Amino acid sequence: MKISKRGKEIQESPIRKLAGIANAAKARGVQIYHLNIGQPDVPTPDVFYKSIEHYSEKVLAYGPSDGLPELKDAMIDYFANYNIPLKKEHIVITVGGSEAVSFGFAVIADPGDEVIVPEPFYTNYNGFATLTGVTLVPIETKAETGFHLPDIGEIEKKITPRTRAILICSPNNPTGTIFTEAEIRQLAQLAKKHDLFLVADEVYKEFTYDGEKHFSILELEGMEDRVIVMDSISKRYSACGARIGAVISRNTEVMQSILKFAQARLCPATLDQVGAIAAYRLPMDYFKDIKLEYQERRDILCDTLTVNKDIVLQKPKGAFYIMAKLPIDDADNFARWMLESFNENGETVMVAPGPGFYSTPGKGKQEVRMAYVLETQKLAKAARIFLKGLEQYNRR
Ligand SMILES: Cc1ncc(COP(=O)(O)O)c(C=O)c1O
Repeated sequence: MKISKRGKEIQESPIRKLAGIANAAKARGVQIYHLNIGQPDVPTPDVFYKSIEHYSEKVLAYGPSDGLPELKDAMIDYFANYNIPLKKEHIVITVGGSEAVSFGFAVIADPGDEVIVPEPFYTNYNGFATLTGVTLVPIETKAETGFHLPDIGEIEKKITPRTRAILICSPNNPTGTIFTEAEIRQLAQLAKKHDLFLVADEVYKEFTYDGEKHFSILELEGMEDRVIVMDSISKRYSACGARIGAVISRNTEVMQSILKFAQARLCPATLDQVGAIAAYRLPMDYFKDIKLEYQERRDILCDTLTVNKDIVLQKPKGAFYIMAKLPIDDADNFARWMLESFNENGETVMVAPGPGFYSTPGKGKQEVRMAYVLETQKLAKAARIFLKGLEQYNRR
């Protein structure tokens, strides 16, 4: 028997692939600071669990494929805070933002069709592209320019008869970059000119620093039919295990197809949606302290790392990641070496190697992604240990 080509080719997650080596290090008694994965340590809001405790239906039945109407209402009220008017028919609740991405790819493109995406990008787009047969066409962005978009002409050159969409993630994972309103408006014009969808992964919407505002593609006028947004509560309410996300679009045909994909997997988890309703009903100032905390963490990590002048890093404005360019030969070797061969008084740091955030072979070899998801003291220590590791790696 043979397994499929896509089953063989799908990439291993760079975030999780070193887990075995990390476990072996732990078994040797080494303590690891996990900066490899975007798992926030912020407690999930109490109301999330309380509302589930009070759920009193006798049968935990299938729910609607497009999600509970009460959750959609709560989301509509949340988006109203951003002056983004939505209706229930614009939302399909999904099993995390992950399912939203795979439904999004499946609805805009047939196998072999192309989606343009700034690179580096959220690594799992590679996996979803393999699953749906979509070809990701990368646009180069660089650490030296804060991973902002190149000249729009460079992006236009990538458009072919098979191009179906331009995909952005803002605030960005892995770079932390927030694409400016001007950048997004240029992309919108390009999408209009070439009759493409404009798709945005906005799961880090709240995580913006230094007073920076996130501009959502849902705010674009005259683009209602072209715009598709992927969303999630995983980071917003620190509820990664809840697996609740959404596809949002005002394009009726898109939403009808998404609904059919959703019917094929029956429904999202009811109890998680019950918790999500309560989270979405929290006042917006819930995010205030959380944002300040992350901003402080970002500052600690960036300020500590850039003491080493050979590290290329611009302080990003959003999400909770940095993509640092390091004076190293090979990020995969380095990340592995940090776990297998290095420790500072029994402690080391785990990072995600850069190449998995690229689809262009050979790119990201000098880069690692670090998530500032630990509280400040631990993070400061992790950053210092990381610098020591880097120094020793280059001297070995
Ligand atoms: C940019 C981005 N999109 C989507 C996801 C998927 O999130 P979820 O947990 O909602 O599936 C993640 C998770 O890290 C992410 O970083």
